[in-house]
Amino acid sequence: MCGIVAHCGEASAVPSLLGGLERLEYRGYDSAGIAWLHGAGHRLRVARAAGRLSALLDVLPADAADDVAVGIGHTRWATHGEPTAANAHPHRDCTGTVAVVHNGTIDNADALAERLSAAGHRIGTEVDTELIAHLIEEQLDGASPGTGDGLDRLAEAVAAAVGQLRGAWALAVTAEGVPGVVLTRHRSPLLVGTTPTALTAASDTLGLCPRTATVRELGDGDTVTLAPGRTLRWRGPGGRETEPPAPLRLSVRHHTVELDGAPDHTSKEIAEQPAVVARILDAVAGRLATGRLLGDLGIPGDRPVRLLACGSSAHAASVTARMISRLAGLPAHVVPASEHSPAGDELTVAFSQSGETADLLAAHADGGPGPWLAVTNNPHSTLARRSDGVFDLGCGPELAVAATKSFTAQVVAGAALALALAAARDRRAVAEWERVLLGIPDRLAATDAMARPVAEELAKAFAHQPGWVFISRGAGVPYAQEGALKLKELAYRWTEALPAGELKHGPIALVTAGVPVVSVTAAPADRLAVNARELAARGARIITVGGAGQDAVLPAVLPTREPPWGPLESVVALQHLAREVTVELGHDVDRPRNLAKSVTVE
Ligand code: AGP
Repeated sequence: MCGIVAHCGEASAVPSLLGGLERLEYRGYDSAGIAWLHGAGHRLRVARAAGRLSALLDVLPADAADDVAVGIGHTRWATHGEPTAANAHPHRDCTGTVAVVHNGTIDNADALAERLSAAGHRIGTEVDTELIAHLIEEQLDGASPGTGDGLDRLAEAVAAAVGQLRGAWALAVTAEGVPGVVLTRHRSPLLVGTTPTALTAASDTLGLCPRTATVRELGDGDTVTLAPGRTLRWRGPGGRETEPPAPLRLSVRHHTVELDGAPDHTSKEIAEQPAVVARILDAVAGRLATGRLLGDLGIPGDRPVRLLACGSSAHAASVTARMISRLAGLPAHVVPASEHSPAGDELTVAFSQSGETADLLAAHADGGPGPWLAVTNNPHSTLARRSDGVFDLGCGPELAVAATKSFTAQVVAGAALALALAAARDRRAVAEWERVLLGIPDRLAATDAMARPVAEELAKAFAHQPGWVFISRGAGVPYAQEGALKLKELAYRWTEALPAGELKHGPIALVTAGVPVVSVTAAPADRLAVNARELAARGARIITVGGAGQDAVLPAVLPTREPPWGPLESVVALQHLAREVTVELGHDVDRPRNLAKSVTVE
């Protein structure tokens, strides 16, 4: 995961880097660091700290913002080595004059470490990135990069150093006495942005300064230098200088990251769901019953569908696969992106709120003749840029690590897609279900208002229970799984989520007196109620979501007849439950341990 920023321009590098890191903290927040060139001699200075960006601010020297035009920065999600200040990026070589920030993982790190140590390099950490700094040092062969045409020599050294790497990397490098930044990448995204006063770089568009007008994406093996005066030099994989690729205009302005009175981003984002869904429905209005949405997205209406996703997005994909097969009569199946195999000529629909999830990008890189549709909240993301069509969820930034509004938006986008596919294949039910779809924002808002206080009470009663079971049936199962994932990732509770009928085939052995069982109401509700009674008979405490129940009812306002997308509204109640349990236990709701918003390592 991790996030990279870089700046080369007029004297505002440190604030620009810190602003970028703040926006990129969602990619990892184990530690953060920056390196910048100070004073007329361009002395290399580095500050790093374990923990959040606020910890880095505490260790920055008071004069860090003075007159600094060049710098690089990083926010980390640990892969090699613990999340300590010593392991934080930027990493330096033996001379302390070359600084490197890196996203990705180096597969041959052990062999490189052995060789570099034997050659006399002092390797101070277990972090693979440090090895890259030593490899660059080796290429510079003892000469200070600050002599002669330093930036070109540094670029050549970087290109030669990465020639020895296996794995994935996006790198930003700067060095003492060399006013500029070198960038290169292999299987990990990296963008160059242009502002009126600077060239910047970041691992995704959010990390770029808000004044960025255009971006260019590095290709694998490109080496790019950013020099003062907004001088950009682009070299292709063989080292030959080429014209930079045509810039893409950034059409989306940065949204507010304020809490607007909410206690945390999770709470704010849960509450935004009715508005988010209303916007999507507005955007697709008039294009479902005609099937026109498909043409506008540039995707065929008659191919089998493969849905690729991870985590919450995979739950939304499950709901969508069921809808596509039921409504449109097309074969549709979900593949966890980390388990993908080469594609055939089916339509791949990739669900990813960030559009930067490495497992999805790896699946895309593996190729296949079929078209790709990205369903994403980031239309400028790597996934979106590489897909044939993009369904822009338009949720605004989701800053809390737990997916809430993006999940709901993905389900509604999936429903729109399924209805458009059904319409294109002359299926009848489209108009009826479109009407039910239009009622979702009101039902989500009503659920939000009713569920929040009840979830708070339930949290007081159940928060300290270490294990929870989530059950449902049919179309409700992905929502039970999503509720369980939310509780797991935010409140650190062990959870089981499964179709209710599966319990008696083994998992029921976990159910003892007092175990909370969350039953997500779905058709056939009578069968689900029987399963819940079987658990209550063994002492479980049943929390029924969106229906009449036995011990406790967590309200969710559902349509009278179950739609093909199942009990979507119940997810708001489940999100509140997870959040309230987390608050009750005193954990950080927005930044759970070990996680990052965007999973940019395979
Ligand atoms: C869920 O709360 C998590 N944030 C996680 O499961 C997430 O959905 C998954 O990592 C996929 O991310 P993406 O949607 O950005 O691809």
